[in-house]
Amino acid sequence: MRDAAFFEAPVPATARVVARPRANAQTGYFAGLVALVTGSESGIGRETARCLCQQGAAVVLNGRNAEQLSQTRQEFEAAGYAVVSCVADVTDYAACEALIATAIQAFGQLDILITNASISQRAYFADMAPDVFRQVLDSNVYGTVYPLKAALPYLTRTRGSVTFISSISALNGMPSGSAYCAGKAAVANLAHTLRLELAHTGIHFGVVHIGFTQNDPNKRVLDAAGLPVPIAHRPPRWQKSQTEVARIILRHIRRRRQRTVISALGQLIVLVHTYFPRLGDWIVLTTIRRLRHFYE
Ligand SMILES: NC(=O)c1ccc[n+]([C@@H]2O[C@H](COP(=O)([O-])OP(=O)(O)OC[C@H]3O[C@@H](n4cnc5c(N)ncnc54)[C@H](OP(=O)(O)O)[C@@H]3O)[C@@H](O)[C@H]2O)c1
Repeated sequence: MRDAAFFEAPVPATARVVARPRANAQTGYFAGLVALVTGSESGIGRETARCLCQQGAAVVLNGRNAEQLSQTRQEFEAAGYAVVSCVADVTDYAACEALIATAIQAFGQLDILITNASISQRAYFADMAPDVFRQVLDSNVYGTVYPLKAALPYLTRTRGSVTFISSISALNGMPSGSAYCAGKAAVANLAHTLRLELAHTGIHFGVVHIGFTQNDPNKRVLDAAGLPVPIAHRPPRWQKSQTEVARIILRHIRRRRQRTVISALGQLIVLVHTYFPRLGDWIVLTTIRRLRHFYE
């Protein structure tokens, strides 16, 4: 039985993680644990996977692009990390079963699931083809539900930890982000429901609302017709680095937090949305008029 000191915050006895030691167990906060990060061939997911490896976890990498995924895996192997990879579209349940099977075959257990894979958008609702709305929504909702559903029996065995990656744009809604915001808000609510419904399992269910973050230069989101386009303008000084965000995600897991809202802007949105919702809407409507490049 892993020592409760593993967690920074006190946790119920039922929430301790049982770790099966691996032959090549490394040292570090997450040593002896197995983590799966969806959408980890690039971006924040890759940096989160890297931080987990650096802190001793064995990690399952995932994405849809075999070449990019293989490149990331090779980079991690060269650094001496314990990793395997599995090409899987997380909106396909059979592919998610294969993804979880990869984790179990390689490492024998699963302790941490981070559902990070996501497609974003840069399109107003009125212009969006219905299928594009569905693609964005599916990647955020079923891309969260399916890996979790396939992983649940194994996470129950380890009394593991599940983190849904959401966004600060889910806290208040954002013009030109309808399907994305709806999906990110849905998973926040899902975490709350599962925390209650599965309390007896001792599994940790948490949500991290990420704010503006530096992106990979080749990151693309969908336009109204479903074509990949660069994301809208984000002021560089408002952006956290991917490593900073990854470290916050790991702290969230260690403390088994229910919700982490990243960045001062995120905290401000929570405050305004909770106590001054009309003011929040006025600010957004004003920025749409004056700072269109944030949205288009
Ligand atoms: N960057 C930000 O400013 C920001 C802000 C708020 C929230 N977030 C959230 O943080 C997370 C990571 O964002 P990011 O900026 O790192 O995005 P990213 O660079 O676009 O990375 C997303 C990853 O998910 C993978 N992916 C997408 N759809 C998938 C699917 N159906 N199955 C498997 N993999 C899939 C992508 O690879 P393939 O497309 O090749 O499969 C990619 O590796 C997302 O959940 C995002 O919503 C980011």
